[in-house]
Amino acid sequence: MGSLTTHRGNHLRHEVPADVRDALQAYASRLGVFDSDIWWYHEIGSTNDAALAMAERGAAEGTVVAADLQTAGRGRQGRVWSSPPGAGLYVSVVLRPVFRAVPLVTLAAGVAIAEGIRTASGLTPALKWPNDVYLGGHKVAGILAEAGAGEGRPIHIVLGFGVNISQASFPPEIAMRATSLERELGRPVDRGLILACCLAALSSHYAQLSVDPGAVLQQWRLRAASTLHRPVTCTVGQRTIEGVAEDIDDDGALLVRVTGETIRVVSGEVIWH
Ligand code: BTN
Repeated sequence: MGSLTTHRGNHLRHEVPADVRDALQAYASRLGVFDSDIWWYHEIGSTNDAALAMAERGAAEGTVVAADLQTAGRGRQGRVWSSPPGAGLYVSVVLRPVFRAVPLVTLAAGVAIAEGIRTASGLTPALKWPNDVYLGGHKVAGILAEAGAGEGRPIHIVLGFGVNISQASFPPEIAMRATSLERELGRPVDRGLILACCLAALSSHYAQLSVDPGAVLQQWRLRAASTLHRPVTCTVGQRTIEGVAEDIDDDGALLVRVTGETIRVVSGEVIWH
């Protein structure tokens, strides 16, 4: 663990651990917007909460907040994201996207995390809408995007991602559905390399959103091929929809075919059958 450098709220900022620092240095030329400002904590409530607070105070695009463990890690739909020490990557980045790119940021992130895992490990994850990352039918990574706006500033997005590195004691309710990179590979994994590859891929796909969003959608479709054209149950607010997930549209909404009509699902819970 590195030495303490700064106080921020109740948490102590540390130097980036040596394994992570070495990998980030090796990938420096590919980190783009994420190459300079990384805040590393040994323990934190939620990296998303910290990054949202920093973004509100004007933190630059590309600011990275990461921790060895989270005591209040959050997932989508109000769920808890289990974040035991050293068992995963817990990372949030501050983005300030152009307006038209906002709806596609989470899909670009899914593509990037899947690609980063593939580059670093050789494993080929699949995506499930909107951006769950799966290996062999089990979830290995998740993404939580949250928007905010500081006073007088355009919208910012904090994009948090958690990658299961080792098979820590998953809580019973997720143990059957989750996996880790080490379980899939059967060997130890270099978390610094996974982080560097994910940030490099995120930098490239995020930049692509401004110039060629269609290319990001196409890459998302390729990685989600095994989950499209399958029966789904979607819960949107109080409404439950049963149908077949056909595709995504240009804004990243899931298109679900339900007896003769196609319904756009913008958010909500999706169960794949
Ligand atoms: C999901 O439910 O699939 C999304 C999980 C997102 C977890 C990450 S870990 C880093 C960041 N901080 C959080 O509190 N959540 C996200």
